[in-house]
Amino acid sequence: MAIVDVYEAVTSRRAVRGFTDRPVPREVLERVVSAAAWAPSGSNIQPWRVYVLTGGPLAELKKRAGERVATADPWDEREYEMYPPTLKSPYRERRSAYGKERYGKLDVSREDWEARQRAATGNWQCFGAPVALFCYIDRDMGPPQWADVGMYLQTVMLLLRAEGLHSCPQMAWSVYRKTVAEVLSPPDRLILFCGMSIGYEDVTVDYVRAARAPLDETVTFVEGSIPQALAA
Ligand SMILES: Cc1cc2nc3c(=O)[nH]c(=O)nc-3n(C[C@H](O)[C@H](O)[C@H](O)COP(=O)(O)O)c2cc1C
Repeated sequence: MAIVDVYEAVTSRRAVRGFTDRPVPREVLERVVSAAAWAPSGSNIQPWRVYVLTGGPLAELKKRAGERVATADPWDEREYEMYPPTLKSPYRERRSAYGKERYGKLDVSREDWEARQRAATGNWQCFGAPVALFCYIDRDMGPPQWADVGMYLQTVMLLLRAEGLHSCPQMAWSVYRKTVAEVLSPPDRLILFCGMSIGYEDVTVDYVRAARAPLDETVTFVEGSIPQALAA
């Protein structure tokens, strides 16, 4: 069912990891990316560069990525770090809680690295989705422009909800960025930030809704009268 209420779009969006093969009409995808172009960016530079893949090219990408997974081909060298080398508190605890939720549901223990890898391989088949979006950014761009790209991607994901579609943003694709580049031939000046699987949810695939930190850990309301120290 299509969702138009913003709150509902935000709260019903989640990283979906199981899609049906029902095709998504080209005009729907065009409507979404046309509207997403209204996402904000500093000085309106719109630093995103996006490719939308379906049909034969996507099948070819999944095939090539699948071969790399099957042959345990080493990941491509990184063009950006997904996380800081040491995640400090509270991020470390949040990440580990997420891992427990996600892999616990799949009955995969923390120590079982191979089983975790197997669970991750769905990434490179787009979890069965018939559409993939790849988002690049110019390598000259800095943190504010990467933030712009994040806003753009969230805009896409919310608009997809308005079309009854779901998505999963995937940094996982960056580890096979050369394979993605073989299919897309992007200019050298671009870095692949992430992929995004897009399609209709396969409701038979079980999931755990990722929790969120208590609001007072991430938001502070500053209000009331001016503190003495500032008023002086
Ligand atoms: C930039 C970005 C990259 C992500 N990369 C992956 C990924 O490679 N594979 C995956 O399964 N989920 C990926 N996720 C999904 C997150 O794990 C998910 O958003 C988070 O756990 C919160 O869950 P929710 O989106 O279902 O609310 C990514 C999310 C973002 C924003």
